[in-house]
Amino acid sequence: MNFKWKKQKKPYICLAPMAGYSDSAFRQIIKEIAPETITFSEMVSSDGLRYNSKTNKNLMQYKEIERPFIVQLFGKVPEHFSIAAKIVEEMGADGIDINMGCPAHKVIKSNHGAALIKNPLLAQEITQATSEATKLPVSVKTRLGWENEGTLVDFCKGIEKAGAKAMTIHGRTYKQAFTGSANWEPIYQLKKELQIPVIGNGDIGSIENAEEKLKNLDGLMVGRATFGNPWVIRELTEYFYHDQAPEKRAKIQSKEFTSYWIKYHKPTILKHCESAVEMKGERIAMNEMRKHLAMYVKGLPNASELRKKLVLVNSLKEVKTIFQKII
Ligand SMILES: Cc1cc2nc3c(=O)[nH]c(=O)nc-3n(C[C@H](O)[C@H](O)[C@H](O)COP(=O)(O)O)c2cc1C
Repeated sequence: MNFKWKKQKKPYICLAPMAGYSDSAFRQIIKEIAPETITFSEMVSSDGLRYNSKTNKNLMQYKEIERPFIVQLFGKVPEHFSIAAKIVEEMGADGIDINMGCPAHKVIKSNHGAALIKNPLLAQEITQATSEATKLPVSVKTRLGWENEGTLVDFCKGIEKAGAKAMTIHGRTYKQAFTGSANWEPIYQLKKELQIPVIGNGDIGSIENAEEKLKNLDGLMVGRATFGNPWVIRELTEYFYHDQAPEKRAKIQSKEFTSYWIKYHKPTILKHCESAVEMKGERIAMNEMRKHLAMYVKGLPNASELRKKLVLVNSLKEVKTIFQKII
């Protein structure tokens, strides 16, 4: 497939890149539930790829179902991005995204992620080096700014000029990290200044707030709301692409929720576990699945009891045994 942002159905519905969460198994589940979703990898180190790190290559593993599949790179050395871009292209991804928004201390200390907001010329150099090294469309994900949104338009115009084909903006500054609520107003203003598609991100969790937030933007990106509830993405794709309100999930904690959960959620959750085991082997997979499992049982009457057990599981068999007792 020759992926082009401008040819995609709008509004784009994207699964956010989320380190430790949006791995191949999770993306596969999202795509089974909502096939139109555009998926992003967890952030992958361009330095790591440059030096042939297996850990970073493993982060890019994917299955066909995940397409369109965008690999997100982070780093600060333009030459490393050029090399990494070629590696990503060779492994068959549909696009490359550059992380210019991560506020994690370790990332900022190395002048990666959101630190690039303070270095717009380097941000442009990186975008240009990546774009010139590959035929894949290169996009950039960033935040409103460092302390405020005053630099947003100039920063993004520079990125656009350097070759980016789309931008995602998380409606918070670096300083805000994940506090407060996302401010989408500057994103609507930015859209008026750019030619390339602009995707809004931050605090989307329902059809109602997605519809309210979309306004003049080209797409939406959803992150944390998918934790324990990947079905939220289907609600959005059904609503925006099929013009229908999807069958509502049984309301959490309602009388019907447990039987609904057993019938509709349990098979998906087990499939998520199975895909994880297939991709990473049972020991690592089930260790990483614990956090998902703890969130998947939200709304069941004995959720806290279940959670205590699920955060200790080591095998798929143990999960099945615990789930069998849910009646
Ligand atoms: C656990 C976690 C990991 C994340 N990892 C990344 C990442 O690797 N790259 C990135 O650009 N953003 C990352 N983010 C930010 C999300 O992509 C997104 O911008 C943010 O969560 C706001 O969207 P939301 O309100 O829909 O969650 C991460 C967020 C969380 C919660």
